[in-house]
Amino acid sequence: MSTATASEDLRDLVQSASDSFARATTPADLENAKAQFLGKAGRVTELMKGMAALSVDEKKTRGAAINQAKQAIEAALNARRQALADAELERQLQAEALDVTLPGRARGQGGLHPVSLAWERIEQIFGSMGFDVGDGPEIENDWFNFTALNNPPNHPARSMQDTFYVDMNDDEGHPYCLRTHTSPMQIRYATAHAKRHAAALAAGEIPEVRVIVPGRTYRVDNDATHSPMFHQVEGLWLGENVSFKDLKVTYLNFCKAFFETDDLVLRFRPSYFPFTEPSAEIDIQFQTGPLAGRWLEVSGSGQVHPQVVRNMGLDPERFIGFAFGSGIDRLAMLRYGVNDLRLFFEGDVRFLSQFR
Ligand code: FA5
Ligand code: MG
Repeated sequence: MSTATASEDLRDLVQSASDSFARATTPADLENAKAQFLGKAGRVTELMKGMAALSVDEKKTRGAAINQAKQAIEAALNARRQALADAELERQLQAEALDVTLPGRARGQGGLHPVSLAWERIEQIFGSMGFDVGDGPEIENDWFNFTALNNPPNHPARSMQDTFYVDMNDDEGHPYCLRTHTSPMQIRYATAHAKRHAAALAAGEIPEVRVIVPGRTYRVDNDATHSPMFHQVEGLWLGENVSFKDLKVTYLNFCKAFFETDDLVLRFRPSYFPFTEPSAEIDIQFQTGPLAGRWLEVSGSGQVHPQVVRNMGLDPERFIGFAFGSGIDRLAMLRYGVNDLRLFFEGDVRFLSQFR
């Protein structure tokens, strides 16, 4: 065997290994190709075994040549390994690339519901007039909701406020219902403060009850201006000398602040409630704007009935004052120009997002 042919077959071998490595496109392919050349049964190992029959001198030159070829094959293998690793890294980088020039996805901005906005304004305005803010149960018993408000069982006035009853009575046998108005809070608030009132009286002072109670109320109603669940705000101001005039001034000032205009008038239209005497509906009329000229009912009101004052644990000979109960949803409709109450409760984002 001549040296020339020998090195030629080794060059072919190195070339064939490089070609085979180049064809491998995955690390697994590459390891298979490596085994064919450098593995235990690979072509280089075969060549080593073939040297057994050679003379010592021939072994030296042939061994050195085979080793050189082996190193060249290993170099080609490593180069290909590196190339595949680089390609893989590049692929990952591409896949995870962020395109910072894309327009951003803004996070949706929430906002308060128009009824909540109105509710907050009401608390703020009456708060600034010295009213406390109370809160009471929506599941009420019929003593507080009706009877204590001078509206006994079987009284025809109960039919003005039909409601949903809960199949359960309290300890004294009064059935529970969903409250039809916030007026039961007149009794609850006054009696909850009975100790404070007694202490003031004992000290020779005249206690005052001055509170608003906003909250959810329920009736068997359903049309464009009546919803089965709606919101009222109760107002109660009792003292030694609180008169109907105070009601008119207080409510007018509230309306001017709430609607941010002086261009409105109120009308106190005679009405009937068992718990007030005399009683009046409060209608509002704007002098300018899209609603100008129409009378719109927003509230019931009146001078608190002596029997109700008694049910509060107070002496009606000494305590006198007024109460009102206004629809918060109605006030919100007027303030925001909404013509159908039901829009408030449908949860349509196109409607709600206008109030952000
Ligand atoms: C009452 O509920 C009395 N408790 C008000 C009151 C309080 C009178 C204190 C005297 C003293 P009335 O049923 O009129 O009254 O309701 C008061 C207001 O609640 C109405 O003017 C209206 O604005 C609103 N309202 C009543 N029913 C509904 C309903 N189904 N949906 C939306 N708003 C309503
Ligand atoms: Mg009414």
